Parts: sequence; C-alpha cells; structure tokens
Amino acid sequence: MEKIIIKGGQKLKGTVKISGAKNSALPILAASLLSEETSIIENVPRLRDINTMKKLLESLGVKVNFEGNSVRVEPGNFVGYEAPYEFVSTMRASICLLGPLLARQRKARISLPGGCVIGTRPIDLHLKGLAALGADIDIRHGYIIARAEQLSGNDNIYLGGPFGSSVLATCNVMMAAVLARGETVIENAACEPEVLDLANFLTKMGAKIKGAGSHRIIIKGVNELKGAKHRIMPDRIETGTYMIAAAITGGNINIVNANLRHISAIADRLKQAGVEIIKIDKKIKVRVKDPIRPVDVTTLPYPGFPTDMQAQMTALMSVTEGISVITEKVFPRRFLHVSELIRMGCRVYLEGSSAIINGIKRLSGAQVMASDLRASAALVLAGLVAEGQTVISRVYHLDRGYERMEEKLAGLGANIKRVKR
Ligand code: EPZ
Repeated sequence: MEKIIIKGGQKLKGTVKISGAKNSALPILAASLLSEETSIIENVPRLRDINTMKKLLESLGVKVNFEGNSVRVEPGNFVGYEAPYEFVSTMRASICLLGPLLARQRKARISLPGGCVIGTRPIDLHLKGLAALGADIDIRHGYIIARAEQLSGNDNIYLGGPFGSSVLATCNVMMAAVLARGETVIENAACEPEVLDLANFLTKMGAKIKGAGSHRIIIKGVNELKGAKHRIMPDRIETGTYMIAAAITGGNINIVNANLRHISAIADRLKQAGVEIIKIDKKIKVRVKDPIRPVDVTTLPYPGFPTDMQAQMTALMSVTEGISVITEKVFPRRFLHVSELIRMGCRVYLEGSSAIINGIKRLSGAQVMASDLRASAALVLAGLVAEGQTVISRVYHLDRGYERMEEKLAGLGANIKRVKR
C-alpha cells in the first residue's frame, strides 16, 4: 500500500502548473459517445477516475487512446449500453454515462451508484430529468434500466432538490436533450464552470445549446452530432488547493494555467483571511506576508464557495489562531477529514453541518488515513505545516483527483515523498 510521507515546516515557493479539470473531463469523455465520429480531448489529467472512465468506455466497445494528456476517443458503432457495478462502485461519476447511452443506444443499464463517504448521493434528479424527456426508467436488482425509442424535448424540466441543483444531473439531461426531438428547457440548472465546458464541447459537436453556465439552459435537439476537438478547462479545485498550500505554509508561489474567474469565492475567503492574491499576466501570485486571520465559510453551489474546497479550508483554519466556523450546505456530512485532523492536534467540534474551529499555532505530524479525495488533500496540507513527520495511508484517494500531487508540491520545495510499503 503506498503512503505519502511529509516533513512539515517548508514555506512553499516557485511555480506550479494546474492540470485539466477532472470534473469536466469525466462528463466530456462520456459525451464523446454521442457521435460515431472520433473526438480528441486535450488537457485531460492522468488520474485514477479518468482511468476508470477509460476502462468503462472500452467495456462498451469504444476505442480510447491516451497520448500524454490528449485522448483520442473512437466510438464508431459501439454496441454496449451497460455500466457494471464493478466500475460504478469505484467511481459514482460513472452515472454521467446514463444520458449519452440513452440518447445513442436508446437504452442504458447502469449500476446504482449508492452513497459514498461524503453523503447518500441520491440520483432522483437524474432520473426525473430523463423521464421528463420520455425515458422509461426502472430500478431492479441495484441497476437503473432506462429505455427510450425516441427522446422528446421538454420545455420545463426543473432540476431542483433540497440542496439546490445537481451538476451531473444537469450534464446527464443536457447530453440526452441534444439528440431529443424538439426543444428542452432546463430550469434551475447547475451553473458550475464544468457544465459550461461540457456545453462548449457539445456545441463543437453540432449541438444547439443556449444559456449553459446560467440557471436556464435551452437546447434544440438535432439528428446527429459530429466528432470534435476540445481542450479541458483548468481544474479550479486543484487551483484552490495549491492556493491554500501557499497560505498554510506562509509561502509565496506562482500558479499558471489557472482561470482566476472560476475561483472568485475561494480567492475572496483567502483575501479576507489576509492572503495576498495578485494576477500578473497569465500567472496568479499567492503569498502570505502577515499571520492568517480566521474567517467563516459556508459552502454553496457555484458561484458560492465550493464544497470540494471545504476540507482544505478546514485544514487552513485549524492552524489559524482564533475561532472560525465552516458550514457545509451541499453535503452536510462531509467532515470525515475532521477526525484525522484532530489526531494532528486540530481543536474543532462539529455542530450539525458546521465545524467550529479554534485554530492553534502548529499541528503535530502523525500517521493518518485518507478517506475521500478532498479529505486526503486536507491531510496533505496539514502535513505541510505540522511539526515533524506525517504519514498518510490510502493515498489512492488522492490519486483519484490530483495529478502528480507530491511531485508538484516537491517542486515548490515541500519535503514530501511517496513510498511503496
Ligand atoms: C459533482 O458531483 C462533483 N463530481 C463533486 O465533486 C462535487 O462535490 C459536486 O458536483 C457538487 O459541486 C463530479 O463532477 C464528477 P450534485 P455531483 O449532484 O454532480 C444532491 C470531487 O471531490 N442531489 O451537484 O454528483 C446531492 O446529494 C467530487 O471532485 C440530489 O438531491 O453532485 C448534493 O447534496 C465530490 N439528487 C447536491 O445535490 C440528485 O439526483 C449536489 O450534488 C443529485 C444530487
């Protein structure tokens, strides 16, 4: 089992390059199935989740070839329509194959994704949206079985749940609607930049989409789509993670290949905490001159503070003297990282969906265990500043969403290495 070993105390400095966004690449790889023609997707991060998607597409009979960070997807006349349990249980984002398979094969059989450590992860909005397009949906023996001889547009599909909209449900409905007959209007669509990136790819394929990135998306169905070439947007969560790496170590770094517009909420909270964030040409400079101040954070759908940055912000506040309150409004139980941070000396207690943190000067290094993707990032950040050595196990969680993280951090001067034992 691989582990990551960190010796805390180095102030990060230098330049780090941001990779393509995992949460954009996954639905876009699924969307490439909507055409018989070949698509070329560039700036795809080499991650465990991307590899899982590659294996899923190949299990459907689709040719997928990587060259560096570029992927050539050749759907041709693939016949598959199933996403089996062994794939979906390792990556719930496999659910984003439902829309494309339904649109292309007129049927889909996808294992129910089930819950995960950050919450129950229901899919009712996915199913409601696809049923609104005329799909027959059945759930049997842990599988979603969806059929539709012909999908028909629906001018009022409201994608709203108790926690706002749904990113992947918006993606699924959009990917089905582009080949439906007639016009579809998605109300309360998710506004995350990854939804807009997917819409841009679909538009290059010949889809007719207006309003992506807003709460109302209008789609005019077409008969067929062509292959396309697309470059994945920068990963805004990776960007935010390295900004906090600079802040937590009192460092001074340059971030390149990032999109500052996508991280306004993160930058706002960090500036509020006293971190200096300056855009110089194509670089984002992040540096700390004075002690970081405690700030309160509430996670919200985009453009609010992203839930995928909550664990990392909790790590930063745990070494910021004073009281801060971090409230999780998207996945109210997303606090698995807290118990491991407590083992490093973090003073925090949970009250409902809030973490009340009484920050201290220094955490102490310890043996800790990663539990999910962003929780493991929080443990790495804490290890960068903790006294002594931190050993993180189950680092496969980290590899799901961060490309070569220990290499990038070592390049910024961190004392970090991966060991196989
Ligand atoms: C996407 O997941 C991201 N994953 C998640 O990132 C991210 O945390 C999440 O959006 C929120 O921003 C990918 O894009 C692959 P949702 P998704 O459906 O689409 C509720 C990471 O770390 N909901 O927007 O599955 C749900 O329970 C991952 O990179 C329903 O009620 O999330 C949650 O409370 C983790 N019914 C809220 O909506 C549904 O049918 C938002 O979930 C679907 C969701």
